[in-house]
Amino acid sequence: MAGRNFLFVPGPTNVPDRVLRAMSVSQEDHRSSKFPELTLRCLADLKKIFKTTTGTPILFPSSGTGCWEAALTNCLDPGARVLTSRFGQFSHLWVDMCQRLGYAVDVLDVEWGEGAPVERYQAALEADKKHEIKAVLVCQNETATGVTSDVAAIRRALNYVKHPALLFVDSVSALASIDFRMDEWAVDVCVSGSQKGLMLPAGMGVTCVSQKALAAAKTAKSPRCYFDYWDMVNANASGYFPYTPSVPMLYGLRESLQMLLEEGLENVFYRHNYIAAGVRAAVQDGWKLKLCAREPKWYSDTVSAILVPNGVDGAAVITRAFTRYNLALGAGLARVAGKLFRIGHLGDSNELMLMAAVAGAEMAMLDCGVKVEPGSGVAAAANYWRDRKPPASGANA
Ligand SMILES: Cc1ncc(COP(=O)(O)O)c(C=O)c1O
Repeated sequence: MAGRNFLFVPGPTNVPDRVLRAMSVSQEDHRSSKFPELTLRCLADLKKIFKTTTGTPILFPSSGTGCWEAALTNCLDPGARVLTSRFGQFSHLWVDMCQRLGYAVDVLDVEWGEGAPVERYQAALEADKKHEIKAVLVCQNETATGVTSDVAAIRRALNYVKHPALLFVDSVSALASIDFRMDEWAVDVCVSGSQKGLMLPAGMGVTCVSQKALAAAKTAKSPRCYFDYWDMVNANASGYFPYTPSVPMLYGLRESLQMLLEEGLENVFYRHNYIAAGVRAAVQDGWKLKLCAREPKWYSDTVSAILVPNGVDGAAVITRAFTRYNLALGAGLARVAGKLFRIGHLGDSNELMLMAAVAGAEMAMLDCGVKVEPGSGVAAAANYWRDRKPPASGANA
């Protein structure tokens, strides 16, 4: 197909040219005397992204899923009890991993389209008088349904009932796009990956661990080897890795962190909210369709999951967008397969990039028999963006 492909899945996201160029390097010796400069700079800048001074960022050659596993196996004893909630495919997959690794999981099931149930977490923690629950898990941004949860409120619930459990947060599709505060929320493990807000290819698990989590990892007896925190932390202290790292990914990470810090994290969050709100205007005001997220308090600034009308196959819309218009939209996963399609609006993006996604989705929907008004999504998004303060990084800021 002539012209470019438009990538609007909620990860992997578009990799900026600056990052692509930074990654285009020859291989080099990862044991050289010069190498630590690169590692230490990445780890220091990552602390700013996690908003931590006391936490320790760790990079694994994995995706986000590897960091889920690392959190569990480093900090818990075999069979330990954990508390979590499930309201979409990714929160489900973390539950599934806990179960397959033999942990005892208390699951708070919630309707897909809602987020972490703070009162139910608090009640479960309060009922656990013997403090058998060793870790509380929460998915900050459920990518399958476009739902963002209130992590600070989960921390308040833990504090309110004076429960000592560790707090593990999945911020795979939130970090560097939606505010995350490691220290302020006293998060013990934050799990993320390279291919979303960090604007890199997939392949690097990006995580951050508190001092409390590292202390737990000193005694926790779950088997682990490749993903051992302390092997990594000990090697990283002098700027090296316990095994061969991907050097191009580290150069890419250094550049993407530089870009995020140049823009300013708060400006990055504003930009994501502004872009997302324009897409939501297209969906709700233009197309008169509904988001999977049931209430505004759950709306995600990184991904919108758009319900197609009854009788229409969401998968057909996605296939049509891809084959006819060279546009990649996110699929409906598991329970919501066929019921929705997703537009990812995270990472390196601006108004006109999202206009392509909105226009392409609109054409694909019309082709598949969805009765939306032609041009209505683009018009609603334009009206939203033209009336608002542009992001600091915008061409016309
Ligand atoms: C919220 C969330 N958690 C975990 C994952 C799994 O991450 P990965 O695919 O990088 O292993 C994803 C992937 O999209 C995700 O969106």
